[in-house]
Amino acid sequence: MIYLDNAATTLKKPPQVARAVLNAMETLGNSARGAHAGSLDAAQTIYGARVKAAELFRCPRPDHVVFTANVTEALNIALNGLLDRGDHVIATDLEHNSVLRPLYRLEAERGILTDFVPADKAGNPDYEALERLIRPETKAVVCTHASNLTGNLVDLRRVGEIAHAHGALLIVDAAQTAGTRTVDMQELGADVLCFTGHKGLMGPQGTGGLCLREGVDIRPFAVGGTGVQTYSRAQPEQLPTRLEAGTMNGHGLAGLAAAMDFILKIGPETIREKEAALTKRFYEGVRSIPGITVYGDLSGDRAAIVALNLWDWDSGAVADALWEDYGIAVRSGAHCAPRMHEALGTKEQGAVRFSFSWYTTEEEIDTAVRALAELAADA
Ligand code: ALA
Repeated sequence: MIYLDNAATTLKKPPQVARAVLNAMETLGNSARGAHAGSLDAAQTIYGARVKAAELFRCPRPDHVVFTANVTEALNIALNGLLDRGDHVIATDLEHNSVLRPLYRLEAERGILTDFVPADKAGNPDYEALERLIRPETKAVVCTHASNLTGNLVDLRRVGEIAHAHGALLIVDAAQTAGTRTVDMQELGADVLCFTGHKGLMGPQGTGGLCLREGVDIRPFAVGGTGVQTYSRAQPEQLPTRLEAGTMNGHGLAGLAAAMDFILKIGPETIREKEAALTKRFYEGVRSIPGITVYGDLSGDRAAIVALNLWDWDSGAVADALWEDYGIAVRSGAHCAPRMHEALGTKEQGAVRFSFSWYTTEEEIDTAVRALAELAADA
């Protein structure tokens, strides 16, 4: 198999990740629920993961790293815990349903007000529209760091400056960038940075989290057992416990810590450079094939994603042919990004998405390019 669906989840992980999960499954007790070695080991493992995440994302404090099952849960915690009736929030057409659906629900059930920054035909947000949409009751701007469909990056520094100039928070969805480049929440101006563990971070599925700037107060989404302050009717106030009810995913977080250790040792910028070279090689290979339309802005720095279509063929049929005839795994269809497809004009056709990782090889890229050339020539 040639696996080019890394924006959905990375399949190849550093070998130490699985070893760490296995070791954790054989040794860890329940963190914060005992004074025996197993429980203490679990607490230490999870704290170690917080320290690594704080270093990787430059979160001011390890106890402001809150772990969740994935980025969707992290975004739900942030949005539900920050937005109240009458609050105005701005997102963009680039967002994934992990942002859109919580906002649509909050709109219907809690009476928040939403606006969306439109994207142009190349899939880039209109930053001047953001300036126009912001108003005194704007509580937050929620923005992806990179589109999961096109791979276009958002200039978060610019978004953060606009948000902060008007007293709004910047909530960042780093699902497609965490682990694959420098994601420094302070430099980007993120007040809340949400991430998932199983994509570019190369950790296990079922891991993710949010990093909070000091002073950002989020109401808990779920409440329950924490192992501390048992007789209090309310969830403990202190972070990260305030936002982490129930038994933690110690096994997964052991793997995530190993993955982050690997990334910190290689350096996120080394990973970015390698993925950028692979992306460029792929794009240069496919751009002139007759019948191929590539979406997004390929002119500059971007996530390691290329979305395209062949002729007017259904994207699902193309992905099936790639898989069945060539053993190439990609994602097709709508990619949980409805507004992005509407902006690109690909709502009916969807798009075939190729996404690369640290473990993708040049040979795999070249095979995929040849496969696309052959398929396109079948018109
Ligand atoms: N959000 C993931 C994707 O873009 C699953 O494929």
